Amino acid sequence: MSPTLRPRRLRQSAPMRRLVAETRIHPAQLVLPMFVAEGLSEPRPISSMPGQVQHTLDSAAREVERAIAAGVGGIMLFGVPQQKDAVGSGATDPDGILNRATAFLAERFGDATVVQTDLCLDEFTDHGHCGVLHGDGSVDNDATLERYADMAIAQAEAGSQLLGLSGMMDGQVDHVRAALDAAGHQGTAILGYSAKYASALYGPFREAVDSSLTGDRKTYQQDPANRREGLREALLDLAEGADIVMVKPASLYLDVLADVAAASDVPVWAYQVSGEYAMVEAAAERGWIDRDRLVTESITSIIRAGADTVLTYWAVEQAEWLQTRGIGARS
Ligand code: PBG
Repeated sequence: MSPTLRPRRLRQSAPMRRLVAETRIHPAQLVLPMFVAEGLSEPRPISSMPGQVQHTLDSAAREVERAIAAGVGGIMLFGVPQQKDAVGSGATDPDGILNRATAFLAERFGDATVVQTDLCLDEFTDHGHCGVLHGDGSVDNDATLERYADMAIAQAEAGSQLLGLSGMMDGQVDHVRAALDAAGHQGTAILGYSAKYASALYGPFREAVDSSLTGDRKTYQQDPANRREGLREALLDLAEGADIVMVKPASLYLDVLADVAAASDVPVWAYQVSGEYAMVEAAAERGWIDRDRLVTESITSIIRAGADTVLTYWAVEQAEWLQTRGIGARS
């Protein structure tokens, strides 16, 4: 018996496959996370993330120019300060590295791209936690909200257009929104890292930001076992007024991403994190996988699952491929 239903008809040539592709990557859907470090005279390679560096202001500016030329949708800045303390003072200091880098890049490129900032204390605290601590060493949710409010105003004043709230404190979107509005920053948008899991995939990032953390973040980031809770966190951020919600990491959490995408009435983003990047780069270095194919396949899969936009360390490279080779390009 020969089959009458033949799905292979639509796979028989590259033009046919291109014609019926359900998912396409557009450069504007990609956001580049970048690290800017204080006190460097040269960019410093991050060994756990081959191809990524801690930037100086000048090298960051060159990279942003490249991102803009490739059509990337925006950049997400992380700061790497030289001094840290218990409350993360560098995060709220207008002269702190993240705020300085934001002002420097927003002034030059703020009309051409969306300059975004990570809003979290972990890069700035000597204990490495995302918030300030109680006397017993646990993270003090509500005192942390006050620090986030001040950090938000500092970032908005530096020119950040979209604040990425990545600390997983309860009520952070509501609290930061109110603080921004009271300070006259009604136009500054909030990206909630809504469903952020306590993942081993953040390992390489810890080197990227010279993290001081010794324990873990399991009392505030989510348990990887919990799917329903990821949706709940996103719904809370929506109720609190998040302009965009995000799921993080991406590849191992596509079920959560699909749930959030089905429920959200605002854009849904996903963060392809440092460990997702490092695993591919490491396997490719050994010649075990086809790196470029896997990069595009992984980003395509995240968009297929429901992400409107992907934060990825491959943003510029993938966008340049779309320009030159047309892989996954809109046609
Ligand atoms: C917190 C933050 C982290 C990442 C982004 N924002 C680290 C963490 O939560 O431990 C991880 C990003 C990555 O791994 O690429 N400021």
